[in-house]
Parts: sequence; C-alpha cells; structure tokens
Amino acid sequence: MPKAKPATVKSKKTPRTGLRQMPTKSQNRGLAAAKAAKKDEFYTQYNDIQKEIEAYLEYDPDAFRGKVVYCNCDDPFESNFFKYFAANFNKLGLKKLVTTSYDGSPIAGQGTLFPEYNQGNGKRVKPKALAVILDHVKDEDGDGAANVTDVEIFLKRNKAARTALKADNRYPGGDFRSAECVALLNQADIVVTNPPFSLFKDYVAQLVKHKKKFLIIGNTNAITYLEIFPLIKDNKMWLGCTNFNVGMFFEVPDDWDQFHHIDSDTGKKMARVSTSCWYTNLDHGRRHEPLNLMSAADNLKFSKNLKGKSKYDRYKNFDAIEVSTYKEIPSDFDGIMGVPVTFLDKYNPDQFEIVGNSDDGEMMRQIGVGTLGREFISSYRARGGTGHYSPGMRMLGLLEPQPRVIFKRILIRHRRPTQSTRKKQK
Ligand SMILES: C[S@@+](CC[C@H](N)C(=O)[O-])C[C@H]1O[C@@H](n2cnc3c(N)ncnc32)[C@H](O)[C@@H]1O
Repeated sequence: MPKAKPATVKSKKTPRTGLRQMPTKSQNRGLAAAKAAKKDEFYTQYNDIQKEIEAYLEYDPDAFRGKVVYCNCDDPFESNFFKYFAANFNKLGLKKLVTTSYDGSPIAGQGTLFPEYNQGNGKRVKPKALAVILDHVKDEDGDGAANVTDVEIFLKRNKAARTALKADNRYPGGDFRSAECVALLNQADIVVTNPPFSLFKDYVAQLVKHKKKFLIIGNTNAITYLEIFPLIKDNKMWLGCTNFNVGMFFEVPDDWDQFHHIDSDTGKKMARVSTSCWYTNLDHGRRHEPLNLMSAADNLKFSKNLKGKSKYDRYKNFDAIEVSTYKEIPSDFDGIMGVPVTFLDKYNPDQFEIVGNSDDGEMMRQIGVGTLGREFISSYRARGGTGHYSPGMRMLGLLEPQPRVIFKRILIRHRRPTQSTRKKQK
C-alpha cells in the first residue's frame, strides 16, 4: 500500500510542569482508528469494475439476472460500484440495487459522481449514512436511453428512494455490521464492493455466515490469513478474473501526500496498490482453464530455475518438492508440491487440489510437516541465515544447496481422474 502521511497526535506542554505530555491511551486508540480509516480510503475506478463484471457475464450472461445486488461500503453518490450497477441495471437484468454508505467515512462528500453534496460555493456537505434502493431504471429524461443521468433525475424526484441509516448500540450508521445493514444483506443475492481493508477478515466472515455470493476487492496478502486460506482451500472463495499480478490504481483523498499520479481527466490523486485483487465465489471461465505444463524431465532440461539440477529440491521436513514458480510445476508428478502464492492466480480446481498453507503452523502439523529441528536451525545460522526461526517451527525447510527456510508456500497436488471417473469420461 502506498504510505499515507501518518496522522500524528503532538505532545502538549503541561501548563504547570512544562514537561511534554504523552498522548493518552484513548488518544492512541483514536489515532490507530484514524490511521486504519485513512488506509481504507481507496476508491475503485469504473473501468476496473466493468472489466471484472464483464468477465463473469462472458462465462454466464445471466450471472446477475433477477438478482439483488448489494454494495455495502459505498456512498451511492460517489461510488463507481453504484454508478456501474445503476448504469447497467437493465442490461444486467437486476432485480434491485441496494447501496449503503458509512457514517464514519472521513472523505464522504468529496466524490464527484453527482452534485448531491455540493453547497454551491465549492464546498461539500458531509453526508450522513444512507441507503439508496433502486428497483428499476427507466428513461427519465426521454432521450431514448436509460443511464446514470436518469438515475440522477430519479433520485432528485424520488426522495423516498433514499433512507437515513441509524447507528445501533454497537455500530455507527451504515456500518456493514449494523442491524439495518445486516437486514439489507439478508435480502441480497450478490454483494459487490471494495470493503475497508482493515476490516477484511470480519467482512468476509459476515458474508460466509450469511451464505452470500460476493465479488469484492482485497489485498493479496489476505490469501494466507488463517481466516481466509481455509475458504480458498475448500473452494468456497477464489480469485477473480483480473490478473492479480498487475495491481490496481485507486482514487485517494485530496489531502494525501503520497500518490502515484494525478488523473488528467478527473484531476484526482491516484495511488497504485500492487497487492490488490478480486475475491469471489462467483464462477468464471478463467478458473477452469487448465495450466499447460511440461513433464519433470523437460522442466529439468529447459526451465530457468532448474538448470543444472538432476531433480527437484525436496523439503527437509516434509515429503514434497519445491517448485519456485507455477510455470515449473511438473505435469507428471503425483506427490505434493510447494508453490508460491502467485500460483492461485492460475489455480484450476479441476486440475489441482490445495493441501495446505505454510504460514499456518497448525495446518502444517495436521498434514504431517515436521519441525525444522535444532540441527537445521544451527546449520542455517552457521551459514549466515538470519530471521527469528526456532527449531520447533513447522515452516518448510530446504537443505540443498544450503539450509534455507522457505517462505509462503501453498502445498498442492494434481487431481488425477481415478479409474472409475476415467471410465465414465470415455
Ligand atoms: C476502500 S474504500 C472503498 C469505497 C468504495 N467501495 C469504492 O470501492 O470506491 C472502503 C469504504 O468503506 C467505508 N467503511 C469503512 N468502515 C466501514 C464499515 N465499518 N462499514 C461500512 N463501510 C465502511 C469507508 O468509509 C470507505 O468509503
């Protein structure tokens, strides 16, 4: 993530002693919350939303037909998620579009979608949390097309289409966990948004609890979180269609010092987040494309990282081979293979089974990964190895060409058709 200039609580001189006063615990908590909120203000571009959604439509033109779509971290007057779904309401065949905004948003009102918050003197009113519910989009201005201009006119004419969202005894108005938002979630078929990154685990847990279909943006680092990985392993959640190695550009608040460039059309500051990707449980074509692979022998002959080797490296504490790029996965190896997280971008559940996540010590224990051991750690340190590794850890270790702890591996194996499925396929 690009670093935003950190908000600071300056220490104050106390009047009596003249000594500096440290921020109190509650000031520190407030600071942490403000920092987290700030980190969350990345606004998704229309094109990125369009590109992703269109990939699902290519796979299933009716993917959104008759569905209630809920964008629950989106100010309807600012969010491109609202704009995209409102503009394409009829094309997608939506039944309803529900959009809710959050009371705590530090930049609410800065957006440019509609002049809703414009006071007319260049200033904007900070809006309160609200829900906008659309159950149709029709040609309001009579120009022969039903588009976002019609939505704008409709919202001006129909004040009843928006409702204020109240805080409950735990959450501010519009918080995705608040009672009102959960009630809206219950009516939804598909949730689509870019939620606050700082609450990603809670956000996904709520979607899973309520058994919702979803398409959301998150950080690629979340893949190996203890709460997220089991969903990926069990094929309850997977990566979206946009290639996850490219990163995405987001609009960021005007007062940010660190950003990538200023968009020449909108004049808005843009930040690049190289570690962002889409997560979903909607099916799409890319995850069914088989990865074309060479045999182990051919990889050893032709692949860059394997040149000069007579065989793939094997872990010291687990019966599996190390494959440092998905391109070098051997097509004819039936055992377990350790691959980098980037493999998931190519993961086809018909071709591979996910066995484990090396970041999860408990999962490693369950599948039989041994500890690194005292001898390994000593010889690793003796050869200049650094890092706080203990002999009891269950991270994957390589002995050749010298002891090395291997970071972040996903353990996979080929799914081979059994004899009976092979017969059925004939
Ligand atoms: C990463 S921004 C994305 C905004 C918008 N979805 C988009 O993609 O352009 C996350 C948004 O969630 C809002 N937010 C933060 N905490 C929230 C919460 N607890 N419930 C609902 N929304 C929240 C933030 O104010 C922010 O507008």
